[in-house]
Amino acid sequence: MTVTVRSAMLTDVELLQELARQTFPLACPSTTTADAIAKFIAEHLSAESFRGYLNDDARQTLIAEVDGQPAGYALFCTDEPRDPDVAHALTVRPTIELSKCYVLAEFHGAGVARELIAGGISRAQTQGFAAMWLGVNQENVRANRFYEKMGFQLVGTKKFLVGERWEDDYVRERIFTRHVESA
Ligand SMILES: CC(C)(COP(=O)(O)OP(=O)(O)OC[C@H]1O[C@@H](n2cnc3c(N)ncnc32)[C@H](O)[C@@H]1OP(=O)(O)O)[C@@H](O)C(=O)NCCC(=O)NCCS
Repeated sequence: MTVTVRSAMLTDVELLQELARQTFPLACPSTTTADAIAKFIAEHLSAESFRGYLNDDARQTLIAEVDGQPAGYALFCTDEPRDPDVAHALTVRPTIELSKCYVLAEFHGAGVARELIAGGISRAQTQGFAAMWLGVNQENVRANRFYEKMGFQLVGTKKFLVGERWEDDYVRERIFTRHVESA
């Protein structure tokens, strides 16, 4: 089994939408309704949404493939965090957000997610970022265990809206370096 990671292109929007449709529900707690999931996918994970992300200079999207077949994706955002809870919790700048990391269920535990994160981190370090951060649902035990394993330490909490319901997220941060020369 060979895992490869590549940057997504505009021709990948349908593929990304399909990966997102299959994997977003896997991240939701049992309390999230099917309606709320469908609404979130329609508003944030449509082909149109991904076209916007791919055309946005502040966003970078990676696709993981297993033996050439799509297996997952990750999306990173370089904007300074606007959520005051996040801005307050993070300890290092400049930082990049791991905004989405989703792997098809059949490839969980296979090292695909690790390769996506490793690909994102090596690109972020090359671009001069000192840290990476993310928000993850507090009830998503598997993802929290995975991020802990990948060196993302718990630094705070935040809220995340899915449908009509505010979910509780942990904020996690992985520091590459505490000292970055200013440009
Ligand atoms: C989160 C995700 C990217 C992690 O990738 P993965 O390949 O499943 O991660 P790994 O298997 O390497 O690590 C998961 C860890 O959680 C553990 N785990 C799984 N279920 C668990 C549970 N219910 N309780 C405790 N630990 C659990 C696994 O054993 C593993 O730990 P280990 O390597 O020490 O044994 C992937 O599961 C995924 O795409 N999930 C659905 C979407 C999602 O939740 N994305 C994150 C949104 S922020």
